[in-house]
Amino acid sequence: MTFAIKNNISWVGKIDWELRKFHGEEYSTHHGSSYNSYLIRDEKTVLIDTVWGKFSNEFVENLQKEVNLDQIDFIIINHAESDHSGSLPELMRHIPDTPIYCTSSGIDIINGHYHKDWNFNPVKTGDKLNLGSKDIVFIEAKMLHWPDSMMSYLTKDNILFSNDAFGQHLASELMYNDLVDQCELFREAIKYYANILTPFSSLVDKKIREVLALNVPVDMICPSHGVLWRKDPLQIVTKYAQWASGQAENQITVAYDSMWEGTRHMAEAIVQGISKEDPSVGVKLFNIARSDKNDLITEIFRSKAILIGSPTINNGILSSVAAILEEIKGLRFKNKKAAAFGCYGWSGESVRIISERLTESGFSLLNAGLKEKWSPGSEAIEHCLRFGQEVALQVKGP
Ligand code: FEO
Repeated sequence: MTFAIKNNISWVGKIDWELRKFHGEEYSTHHGSSYNSYLIRDEKTVLIDTVWGKFSNEFVENLQKEVNLDQIDFIIINHAESDHSGSLPELMRHIPDTPIYCTSSGIDIINGHYHKDWNFNPVKTGDKLNLGSKDIVFIEAKMLHWPDSMMSYLTKDNILFSNDAFGQHLASELMYNDLVDQCELFREAIKYYANILTPFSSLVDKKIREVLALNVPVDMICPSHGVLWRKDPLQIVTKYAQWASGQAENQITVAYDSMWEGTRHMAEAIVQGISKEDPSVGVKLFNIARSDKNDLITEIFRSKAILIGSPTINNGILSSVAAILEEIKGLRFKNKKAAAFGCYGWSGESVRIISERLTESGFSLLNAGLKEKWSPGSEAIEHCLRFGQEVALQVKGP
């Protein structure tokens, strides 16, 4: 499958319908994904990015139907992660001398992956590659999300090839933002941002300002995953600016795990307390062990505050709760409040441990947490309801 985008620009990538996990087993992809590669034909012909190595034979065969490989004058690798560079070895077997343009960090990474002596040409922000009647202008995007990441802007057609930025793990034959289900599109876009780009939000904000300051027209944004933004393409830039600012929705997420239902009963009573105090707040409840980790991270990203619960086990916390706290720490969320809760039998360390981990991860603690002995009775449930009400009041603010 290939399709024309405009003026001799073709999509020549791969839609991965069956993908359900990405980055190994780290990222759930309920709706598959795509690896977008683009072929631009002017006086010179240039290929932007390839696809994941497991599809390299398919990719090259497909590309050969679109263009004689010998006619490819340049290859641009906007980002050397395997999902975009993985088909280089197969492609370069056919056209070994074709110049490859990427950042100097990209050269290191490609060498680290494939150990081949290809014709590399390092580029940096502002460098241009003339295609005849149009230029490609390179824009480095270091740490968005790897050291080598960059974008390429095609003049006259006014297309920004943004690589991972503005992408979504979404497989669709429709391939354009105005044709797909908008809820699904933005759910996958925010999930991508929350799980991959959150730690780099200050860089996202800076890069958006830098690109907007160039004051160049943008008719389309073509990322390396998911659908292409052709209708109001800057809407996803506006969303990224909002997400990068740390501005949360009016939401509180309660997430827990439980051994004998005690912490679950606490969680449900806390949620009731929150809703009773502030019916306008969106409160969501998850059993961590039974929820999709990346969907839960997305809900945490959207929230003003989170409440994390675990019973005490072996003087510690349940492994599912420890795992999500480790994930939360790495993502470096900003401007979020938090508190801990959980039941216990004898030693009762879980609330202190969760509180400490949340503080280490940059959350502002709302209180010292709530712990209840054994299975919560009516008095303990009353404590939980009040705890939820107090949290709602604090989150609502003055
Ligand atoms: Fe889609 Fe960072 O690779």
